[in-house]
Amino acid sequence: MILRQLITHIGFLVVHINALPYENEYGPEYGDEWILFYDDEGNTHVMNFSTIPSDSRGMIFGDAYYYLYTRDNVDPEELFLPTEENQVFSSQYFNSSNALKVVTHGWFSSEQTTWIQQIKDEFLLKDDYNVITIDWSEIASNPIYPWAAFSTRYIGKKIAKLLDAITLSYQVDGSNMHLLGHSLGSQIMAYTASYSNQRIQRITGLDPARPFFELPMMPQECRLDKTDAVFVDIIHTCGGIYGYRKSHGHADFYPNNGKAKQPGCEGFQNVIEGCSHGRACLFFRESINSEISFTAYPCENWEKFKSGECRQNFTYMGYQATEGDFGDYYLYTKDESPYALGDH
Ligand SMILES: *[C@@H]1O[C@H](CO)[C@@H](O)[C@H](O)[C@H]1NC(C)=O
Ligand SMILES: *[C@@H]1O[C@H](CO)[C@@H](O)[C@H](O)[C@H]1NC(C)=O
Ligand SMILES: *[C@@H]1O[C@H](CO)[C@@H](O)[C@H](O)[C@H]1NC(C)=O
Repeated sequence: MILRQLITHIGFLVVHINALPYENEYGPEYGDEWILFYDDEGNTHVMNFSTIPSDSRGMIFGDAYYYLYTRDNVDPEELFLPTEENQVFSSQYFNSSNALKVVTHGWFSSEQTTWIQQIKDEFLLKDDYNVITIDWSEIASNPIYPWAAFSTRYIGKKIAKLLDAITLSYQVDGSNMHLLGHSLGSQIMAYTASYSNQRIQRITGLDPARPFFELPMMPQECRLDKTDAVFVDIIHTCGGIYGYRKSHGHADFYPNNGKAKQPGCEGFQNVIEGCSHGRACLFFRESINSEISFTAYPCENWEKFKSGECRQNFTYMGYQATEGDFGDYYLYTKDESPYALGDH
């Protein structure tokens, strides 16, 4: 693949970008300056990131909401942050004996989106977890992508306060916390972990958002990377377009080479990409309770993997990924559920 060196002027910043050229009917700016985005309802939006807003005044149009699900409550319990710091808060269903999973969505999505509800259900089937889903759809539905992207920090800070309040009130500490986010949601979880007083055990990035994080490359403290938690695992499914292309976690998984188009994602450009971007969530969801594992193999690159090298060692992508996993992993999947191919 040919690397194209671009110099982009963003305000007073001059950023060198190694952009991957992306062949398509919309021309060379597509993928570098703007992209079509296909949301959960099937609507198309222009994700334009050719200019960063010059100031952030008025950027916040909405709030974040927190919903707790446990095996004891099918209907969500809305959680409210204590108004002051170091104040204990109480919940009807939070169970201090159990580990915590926190899940959130990306641009033009919400807590009600199918994959979040399904991942929540699979977690509760798997074990007696406290599952908190975060809804930041009021802000995520801002059609100006940069505003939604820059708001990830604000949302992350708020969730960090919630986690600290949980630790204070229920003695569940960071070692029992696992944060998951899709797209911009991955970036939110990076901020959450870094603003929290806890060292968070694990962050799973489900195709973490690329525009404004990897393109242009933001400083380490402004994007998800392996400093954010004890274990950061990333599933790449639309790398170089909506998702990170490069490895940023402890373990980076590249199913079907980590890019569009993922098997089963046919259609128009934006549909291919939206579908591929969403695959990371579907893979993770399936991995929680499925008997068929997403066996993944450490390898230098896709070409070597494809040629049949790199089959000596393996690990598992998704729920079963563990702290010892380190480096890049490759695997194939099927084009429909169940996606996993199992062992060897
Ligand atoms: C993106 O925004 C820039 C600056 O506002 C504008 O010039 C350009 O036409 C926009 N591109 C698209 C595809 O909307
Ligand atoms: C909390 O969860 C444990 C299992 O992890 C269970 O034994 C216990 O009954 C739960 N407590 C409440 C109050 O539901
Ligand atoms: C497989 O694991 C062995 C033992 O840990 C290690 O020496 C070897 O380098 C690994 N091979 C690959 C391709 O990662």
